[in-house]
Amino acid sequence: MEWITLKTFSTESKIYVGDDALASRLPVLTAGQKNFVVTDENVYALYSDFFKEYFQGAEICVIQAGEEYKNFQSLYRILEKMTGAGLHRTSKLFAVGGGVIGDIGGLAAALYMRGISCVQIPTTLLSQVDSSVGGKTAVDVSGVKNVVGAFYQPCEVLVAPTFLKTLPNRELKCGVGEIVKYAALSGKIFDLLEKGIGRLNDLEFLTSLIVACIEHKARVVERDEKEANERRSLNVGHTTGHALELARGWSHGESVLFGMLLETEAAIAAGVCEEAYGNRLVRIVREALRMTPITEADFSSVENDLKAAKSDKKNTGDGKIQMAVAKDKNEWTMWALPFAEYCDAIRNAAKKIVRE
Ligand code: NAD
Ligand code: GLY
Repeated sequence: MEWITLKTFSTESKIYVGDDALASRLPVLTAGQKNFVVTDENVYALYSDFFKEYFQGAEICVIQAGEEYKNFQSLYRILEKMTGAGLHRTSKLFAVGGGVIGDIGGLAAALYMRGISCVQIPTTLLSQVDSSVGGKTAVDVSGVKNVVGAFYQPCEVLVAPTFLKTLPNRELKCGVGEIVKYAALSGKIFDLLEKGIGRLNDLEFLTSLIVACIEHKARVVERDEKEANERRSLNVGHTTGHALELARGWSHGESVLFGMLLETEAAIAAGVCEEAYGNRLVRIVREALRMTPITEADFSSVENDLKAAKSDKKNTGDGKIQMAVAKDKNEWTMWALPFAEYCDAIRNAAKKIVRE
């Protein structure tokens, strides 16, 4: 088991990576107070033995699986159950599941009695490499993703790669979207991924990537917890990705990969991203995208599905669309374009991708 510490102004979180993290940390974490578990129906069905072993006597709240349940109704249900279970300030909430459960469970922990301890136990690749770390919690409202939430750091994150063995291939590949994002930001992860791009189904290789991504994220969050500056880099590919996720109903990871491909090509064309490096990054993204069901036809009329980029949280109110893009190895930048120019740039990038 390896561990990474994340210290912010007010908290210190420990992130343990390794299958033994569960047996070594859970008995300690669950002892001596009331515990509350949030999970989804799929994870609950697959891991009933795990819940029996570690959460005897805890109140378990099972919500329906999927992004469409990351909403106020589910949050209200969780908070009602927490109140009904008589939790108090010293109680702990365990969020066991993918990014949806981590985000909504983390928000419930932040709100209940103005904040109780939260332990994140991520079970998808996406949540293990990214969403369980850094304290962003949220629900979607009126079709706007993550628009209501809080920064609320978990006290511990237990990352057990063994959960990935039951993850459907499509979900596994979705997590690759966030890994490629880290490759766009860190030369070390870029080299690791470029060399091992054919080993994305190998749990040992994935574990080394998980550790590297978490280490990168922890340092960024320590320097900029509330996303005033450097943390915006963790949104590479996300402006276009989020817009397409909403318009097309694709998964988050697939959308991020798709968005990263389009934004990187657009940034190369505009001279914002160095060409030779950008082309290597594009090759990695295309390789990762090959593993998703997205086809060439999906690139047509992409510009019609970008409206949601107008309500992206990175925008500053000057009417421009803000994108975090890779500039060169270990370098990134914010790139802002008026909406019409943004749509043109993405349309031209899509045309180039289809031509090649
Ligand atoms: P998800 O939570 O919907 O999980 C995907 C699917 O996998 C679900 O059907 C789930 O039931 C199933 N599943 C989970 N673990 C499994 C396992 N071990 N075996 C089999 N099936 C399993 O989606 P996700 O991709 O994990 O997360 C996406 C969410 O994360 C989005 O809402 C996104 O906004 C959010 N996110 C948050 C952050 C953050 O910093 N907080 C970062 C990135 C993404
Ligand atoms: N996933 C982006 C962030 O945590 O900031």
